[in-house]
This record gives sequence, C-alpha cells and structure tokens, in this order.
Amino acid sequence: MTTREHGAFPLDWHPEPDLIDLRRDDAREALSELGERAWDLALEYVYEEAMRRPVGPQDYSELRRTFFGPAGGPAPAPRSPSPSPDVLDEVRRRLLPHLYNSQHPRSFSYFTPPPLALSIVGEMLGQWFHQGVDVFHGGPVAALVEEEVVMWLRDLISYDASGWGVLTSGGVMANIMALTVVRDRHLASLLGSGPPRGSALERARIYVSDQAHFSIGRGLDILGFPESALSVVGSDERFALQATPVAARIERDLAEGLVPLCIAAVSGSTNTGSIDDVEGLAQLAREHGLWLHVDAAYGGAARLSARDGGRVPGLELADSVTIDPHKWFYQGYDIGALIVRRRADLHATFRRSPEYYRSSIPETQPLNWLEYSIEGTRRFRALKLWLSWKHLGTEGLGRLVETNNDVAAELARQIAQSGDFEAAVDVPDLSIVCFRHLADGWDASESAERALDEHQDRLQRALEVSGEGWVSTTRLRGRTWLRAGVMNHMSSSEDTAGLLESLRRLAQGL
Ligand SMILES: Cc1ncc(COP(=O)(O)O)c(C=O)c1O
Repeated sequence: MTTREHGAFPLDWHPEPDLIDLRRDDAREALSELGERAWDLALEYVYEEAMRRPVGPQDYSELRRTFFGPAGGPAPAPRSPSPSPDVLDEVRRRLLPHLYNSQHPRSFSYFTPPPLALSIVGEMLGQWFHQGVDVFHGGPVAALVEEEVVMWLRDLISYDASGWGVLTSGGVMANIMALTVVRDRHLASLLGSGPPRGSALERARIYVSDQAHFSIGRGLDILGFPESALSVVGSDERFALQATPVAARIERDLAEGLVPLCIAAVSGSTNTGSIDDVEGLAQLAREHGLWLHVDAAYGGAARLSARDGGRVPGLELADSVTIDPHKWFYQGYDIGALIVRRRADLHATFRRSPEYYRSSIPETQPLNWLEYSIEGTRRFRALKLWLSWKHLGTEGLGRLVETNNDVAAELARQIAQSGDFEAAVDVPDLSIVCFRHLADGWDASESAERALDEHQDRLQRALEVSGEGWVSTTRLRGRTWLRAGVMNHMSSSEDTAGLLESLRRLAQGL
C-alpha cells in the first residue's frame, strides 16, 4: 500500500516513511530490520565496549570536547531528517566508547547491577505497549500487572493483606512519598488536625542517622518542614543507627515540648550497606507513637534470599518501606517502590479525582494508580520486573544476591589478609566494601591521614583511567575511602583479587 492508496498523510519528505506510518505494506519488515539493527548495536556495545573496560578514561572536559567537538557545547536541534542507520551509527561512534559499563565484572559500582535481559525486554515491550499507568482505563491490564508486582514486593516485606504499595521512579521519590504520608496521616493524627501545613510542621521531629540517604532531608524540605525537623543521630562503629541514642533524643525533645513524629531507618545504607537496628527502633516507635519508615532501597532485595534475608530483619515492623528494584533486583532504570502497611494511608494521602479522569462506570471502582502516587502518568514499569521475576523466580534472584554477598565477603577477607589495604568494616553487612590503600610510610597523624585521603582519590582516578576496574570514593567519619559495590552477578573473587592487584600496582606509580 502506498501513502496515496490508504489516504494517510504524505511522508515523501522522509527517507524512511515505513518507520513512521505503521500502516504501510513495507512498515512491518522495516520495523523488524530496525529492531534487529538496534539489538545488534546493543550487543556490540555489551561485547565490544562494556566487557572491555568499566568506563572510558576521559574526564569531564575531555569528554565534552570529544562529544561536542570544536563547538564545545550542545549542537542546535537537527532541522532535517536522517535515515535511521545514520542515527544508529552516530550512537555507535559518539556514545558507545564513553558509557559507564555496569556489565564489566570489575565495575564495582554504585547500586548499578547490569540489568537482566528479560528486564530489558520488558522495558522495550513496555514502550511499544505504551500504557499510561495512572487511571485504570489508560492502561487496564498494566494496572493489574503493577498490582501483582506490588503484592510480590509486599510479600517480600511480610506485610499482611492490608499492605499495599506503588511503583515509583526510584528511592528518592519513594522516600518523599513516604514522608508525605507521615505528614498528612501521622502528624495529622498526632495533632488532631487535617493535613498539617506551615507553622504546624515546626515542632515535628524526624530521626535519622548520619548515614541516611539525602532524599530524607530533601523530602522534608520539599514538604515544608523547617531544617530543624531533621534530627540526625550518630551511627555506631558499624555505621548503624541504634535505638538507645534515638530514645535519648526523643526524651529530650518531649521535654522541650516538641513532637517526635517519625524514625526513618535505613536497611542497607548507601555508603557502606549498614543496617540500622530496625527491630529496636520499631519497639521505640511503638512506645512513643512514632511512624517507622525503613529505607530498604538497596537492602530490601536481600529478602529474595532464604539464606541472607535475615540480614535485613524487621521490615515487617515498619509502617512504610522503600524498596528499589532498579538497585538489587537487576532491573533496568527506572523502577522503585514504596510499600505501606495500610493501603488506606497511601490512598488518603494521594487521592485526587480530576474531572477529566472520570469513569463512565464508576460503580466498578477500578484501580486508579494516580490515587496512590505523587506522579500522574507513569510508564509501564511493572512489566520488566514481572518478566524477569518470572524468568528467575525468587530463588534465582536470591541466588544472584547471595553471589554478590559472598564475593563482597571474599573481598573483605582479601583486604584483611593483604597488609597494605584496610576495610572500614571487617565483615560487610551486605555487598558493599569500603576500604583504603595504606600508602608507604603511613602513620596515624592528621597530616598523614590527609595525605592518605588524597592518595585514595588519586588511586581511584588512576584505576578509572587504566580501564582495569572501577570503584567510587566516599567520606566516612571525615576520611576518604574507596567504595566497592559488589552488584554485578558476573563478578567473582578473582575479580576482587584482580582489583586489589591493579590498585596496588597503580599506587606504585602515583
Ligand atoms: C539507601 C538509599 N535510599 C534511596 C536512594 C535513592 O534512590 P534513587 O536514586 O533510585 O532515587 C538510594 C540511592 O542510592 C539509596 O542508596
């Protein structure tokens, strides 16, 4: 069929009209070829770039020069069309060599495991299906897939049937939404008011450790709480928040007429993977009528493993839990989740019924996901997790988590036996190992410590440039450490030994 025959809009101006008008006779074949070319390009990336090195050597300004060319900044938007092979070729030339490669087994990254193939397929299908998961009739069965996936996450946390949840763009959004519920449900009930605003937020206190994710503070800020609402309590020597210092802080605040509102614990902190004493904090929250939120964005996935699930105890005691499948469920970006103990809390906080989303058959009370979220139109995020969870099963996903934990424990052992490296924590709680290289002649003086901090930074950059591995750096108790996130299920203890060997050798050249 030609454009003229089926009366569609003319597309002669484009070199590939079959990729734009799906009704043309040749469209299906052209789309199939496009798919093949794109998938081949992805595999070229994986095998010829990602497996070669964790990241390219160029720093920010070098990469700007390479990417933008002599103009030094973004090019104007393309005015005229280009054929898709040219566009894909540009991806090959200009992007492939400069990506961060989570597939590389020596990428000891942030929370960036390589996505499972079925997750990528889910992402691709989800875009073709193009369901707007907000109002039920905008994505009917997608709403049900999300319900199913959310129930799987709820069961992982061991909430009972009144538990509920919603998928989010990530852990930041889940934490902000949790704090919104805390404000509009829990603070309202403590104050005996409607959803509190303005000066009603002034006396509220939210307790976190010095290892809490930045999104808790950002969330409080966005929600109108004053800076003083965030009460930061020091963590212990393993970077975990214990109940005793929080209890003391609550007593002090009560004596001052403040309103202890919420404990926001973390199970699997960003820095070290540390796990707060959730059970002790839950007991404390119960005694004083506080909301307990647990940020298990990373650590929650340990529950996939029957063997290691006990490392993140007490999630079921929380009122709300953040869990982020794009971290340790090996999912493509983005997919996070907020799971709550009582469905009504989420619904009462976020329910809105704009007239344009009305249903002609409201008596069926369909599931309108926008009533449970800050967000409106959301992508069909559930599909990739649904597919990959079915493909591996809970047991299979749990095995990947166990592999990461075992390799991290092995890295910590290698460090302990090395004599020239030291770890911040001897045995990691999960799969994060913070460690540093002890340069020759190191002693415990302040000036030597400062020099050692700079040594870690130089070493990290040298490793990055070498292409032999990748770790990030962080600051713990005022000092700089290398941080290895063992998130890649293809990493082995030979890779961690190789990482240490590379660092040792590179340190000689600094
Ligand atoms: C403990 C914790 N919570 C929340 C987040 C935020 O997640 P996201 O960046 O996916 O929004 C992170 C991210 O690293 C995290 O480590």
